[in-house]
Amino acid sequence: MQDYAALYTQSVDDVDTFWLNAAQHIAWDTPPQTALDRSDAPFYHWYPDGRLNTCFNAVDRHVLAGRGAQNAIIYDSPITGAKRHISFAELQQQTARFAGMLARLGVQTGDRVIIYMPMIPEAVVAMLGCARLGAVHSVVFGGFAAAELAKRIDDATPKVIISASCGHEPGRVVEYKPLLDAAIDQSIHKPDNCVIVQRDAVQAELIEGRDLEWHQAHEGAAEMAPISVHANDPLYILYTSGTTGQPKGVVRDNGGHAVALHWSMRHIYDVEPGDVYWAASDIGWVVGHSYITYAPLIYGCTTILFEGKPIGTPDAGVFWRVIAEHQVKVLFTAPTAFRAIKRADPEGEFLKQHDTSCLKYLFLAGERADPDTISWAERQLGVPVIDHWWQTETGWSICANPMGVEHLPVKLGSPSVAMPGYMIDILDSQGNVLPAGELGAISIKLPLPPSCLVTIWGADQAFIDKYFSSFPGYYETGDAGYCDADGYLYIMARTDDVINVAGHRLSTGQLEEVLSDHPDIAECAVIGVADQLKGQLPIGLICLYPSSQRAGQDIIAEAIELVRNRVGRVAALNQLVIVDRLPKTRSGKVLRGTVAKIADGTTWTMPATIDDPVILDEITAALKTIGYAGG
Ligand code: COA
Ligand code: AMP
Repeated sequence: MQDYAALYTQSVDDVDTFWLNAAQHIAWDTPPQTALDRSDAPFYHWYPDGRLNTCFNAVDRHVLAGRGAQNAIIYDSPITGAKRHISFAELQQQTARFAGMLARLGVQTGDRVIIYMPMIPEAVVAMLGCARLGAVHSVVFGGFAAAELAKRIDDATPKVIISASCGHEPGRVVEYKPLLDAAIDQSIHKPDNCVIVQRDAVQAELIEGRDLEWHQAHEGAAEMAPISVHANDPLYILYTSGTTGQPKGVVRDNGGHAVALHWSMRHIYDVEPGDVYWAASDIGWVVGHSYITYAPLIYGCTTILFEGKPIGTPDAGVFWRVIAEHQVKVLFTAPTAFRAIKRADPEGEFLKQHDTSCLKYLFLAGERADPDTISWAERQLGVPVIDHWWQTETGWSICANPMGVEHLPVKLGSPSVAMPGYMIDILDSQGNVLPAGELGAISIKLPLPPSCLVTIWGADQAFIDKYFSSFPGYYETGDAGYCDADGYLYIMARTDDVINVAGHRLSTGQLEEVLSDHPDIAECAVIGVADQLKGQLPIGLICLYPSSQRAGQDIIAEAIELVRNRVGRVAALNQLVIVDRLPKTRSGKVLRGTVAKIADGTTWTMPATIDDPVILDEITAALKTIGYAGG
């Protein structure tokens, strides 16, 4: 096997050969002769002359290769007590019937289908079934409220929505159907049909003529063969937070996506077909798209679909139970999950009850992995703990320690080195490349490798403006950091208004837009403060209209409820504080970064551009009343 340095060098010196070789592991209907079409930059087209079907690659080809009886999905739901094993042969039949059902509802290749579902096997069947038909799925995370779903319905204009009667959160059942109905009421675009999985806990009311029960909808549907699509045709749209309340629909293609994910399984995660791979995330996030559904299945692994939490379902030993029971070789999750387990069971008592010797690696991503948590996990599990860095936009890791290539030394606090094709530079505000050790905007020289976003859905110009306008010739990641002399990257902060709560990406601008809609709130600022469990938490400073006569506590409670109802509980905005004024620069920009530092009790300097320094004393005093700024 090659060493990392040789592999990386080849990937950037001879881009086309590297990725044409990698493409040989995919089953193409028309194998590509060209790796990359650069003629339309920054719209790069990977494998422009290739044709394939992603569902065929994830399912049928394993059946044809004699793996039909192997588990494709192991569904383990400690929250409901359910477990199901689905073989590749069964998955082939289920995705074929699902595609036939969609076709009967009038869905054609290129049409959009929204999937708003909890973590149940039908969700994975729906994703793959769409891919089989060439329909473009858009999975919306179940923790989002109706208004967020409505925005995505209007943007993606789906013909059909797939949903379920409910999801399960510890201690409560989340009814999805009323949220779905409210979203369709609010949206301008209306889907033709909704297909609803009725779960045991709740029987949703169906609207005649529009809603169909899952099994009923499938009755008599033909089993459909995979449809051959262009490598550049969209596979899915996944919405993610930007600076405003309008989410961005990241578009992923079929060909580049399949190639990069297949490559990553062997070279980064060091697994073999037949191994059991577990990404403890949610299908609503990019980690779930890539490493619950597509990558493990494309590679021929068994994927675990886990409907539970790291703690409380029923206890902090559930991860170890799942690893031991299903013989998991690789676990991939967010650092928050391990912080929660560490807090609940610092001595690892639960671990002693399970034989986790099958586990070879733990991979972490989604947020900064703090060295304490990494060291704790390493001590407990006795396996390498690998931090890796990626984004919804890329779909796979930009930096990692490639376990299937070479075990590079781990440096705590760094997600290690660039993966093939990612040419990372640290730039100053003028776009000059900074030397090792200096902090700047982490940027990736074009072209990006396969699987990275091809555009923003319906917004080509926004795609150019958002990602390529600050630094010509580069993709702007939105993260700030530095590289050390060995090429290890350190991610320090975001350069925009995005915060990361329990591995979930949230826009403070979006939360501010909702708070501003409260009739008593004149102005507000939301900042991310450090949190020992979730990495960051949002807190809000609100200024009331002078005319407001209402009790501050009532306004705060209503504003928190407004965010829960409009964005969803996942926003986790639970603390607001009333202030007279917001600290601003002379040009009127709110000094969020300074407020965040004051709240965290870290060193800060008085911004030279501040309009009125005295305000910061008032803000400090207000933050102390809710337990921040050393209060
Ligand atoms: N449907 C409906 N509601 C949901 C939901 C879903 N799919 N997912 C989360 N929520 C709700 C939660 O019930 C919670 O509501 P509450 O504030 O009323 O209790 C709220 O959204 C916040 O959820 P979460 O951030 O998950 O916090 P938590 O306190 O419920 O759990 C952890 C804390 C650490 C156990 C949890 O954050 C976790 O498992 N994190 C792992 C991180 C992860 O998987 N990240 C994905 C990216 S890799
Ligand atoms: P998302 O698109 O939701 O996956 O969020 C991507 C963002 O999460 C990145 O831009 C980073 O800010 C952050 N992130 C993801 N992985 C890491 C990591 N390993 N270390 C630090 N930050 C990370």
